Amino acid sequence: MVFQAGGERVQALKDIDLTVQTGDIQLLMGPSGSGKTTLLSILAGLLTPTTGSVHLLGQEITRMSRSRLARFRLKNIGFIFQGFNLFPALTAIENVEVALHMKGIQGRQAREEARHLLSQVDLSHRVDYMPRDLSGGQKQRVAIARALAGSPQLIMADEPTAALDSHSGHAVIELLRNLAKDSGRTVLMVTHDPRIIDVADQVLYLEDGLLKTPPQAV
Ligand SMILES: Nc1ncnc2c1ncn2[C@@H]1O[C@H](COP(=O)(O)OP(=O)(O)OP(=O)(O)O)[C@@H](O)[C@H]1O
Ligand SMILES: [Mg+2]
Repeated sequence: MVFQAGGERVQALKDIDLTVQTGDIQLLMGPSGSGKTTLLSILAGLLTPTTGSVHLLGQEITRMSRSRLARFRLKNIGFIFQGFNLFPALTAIENVEVALHMKGIQGRQAREEARHLLSQVDLSHRVDYMPRDLSGGQKQRVAIARALAGSPQLIMADEPTAALDSHSGHAVIELLRNLAKDSGRTVLMVTHDPRIIDVADQVLYLEDGLLKTPPQAV
């Protein structure tokens, strides 16, 4: 992946080759600026690589038209970003319902499904709260419930525990682990959080845009 920025050419990723197994938790780690978010964005079809290809669920997303790729993402990928990205003027349940509406689930069915998703993340008692009245961990769990709307096979998360204290961080890790292990979702996650390594099936370590073997754990 090469970026052109201010007349400068930045090679953000080089010679990346990786395969992720269905049902695995795959981590992307590495220092700031090493290319983690760039790689996740390419794997999620949010960014087109300068050269190379990405296959997801047996389909080559790098060959799809924009509109087909947008439909593919909507159906198959749930996104969890660091800053939560909740709609501040909507309640927790409405935030989840919006995602369901986008996936063609409407009305009463959307409301019931949203309630079910929030119960899965232990937020049944907070469905009608506004984001500003929720704790950081609770907001992150709303964001996870929203990412799970429509049951996508792939979950892509960029530092999902970064803004959380250790207790809420742990709850979020546990939730992601259960998603992969109990319901066979594949989770790709950028993280600096050493606690997540324990639940990972595979860890990729990036440095200056290159894949390295991870440093030996002690
Ligand atoms: N749109 C862009 N245009 C130009 N350069 C970019 C662009 N996006 C990222 N880069 C550069 O590519 C490199 C990798 O950036 P990336 O965001 O992937 O790093 P990261 O590993 O996610 O870092 P962090 O841990 O700080 O989030 C950086 O040097 C960054 O400046
Ligand atoms: Mg990043």
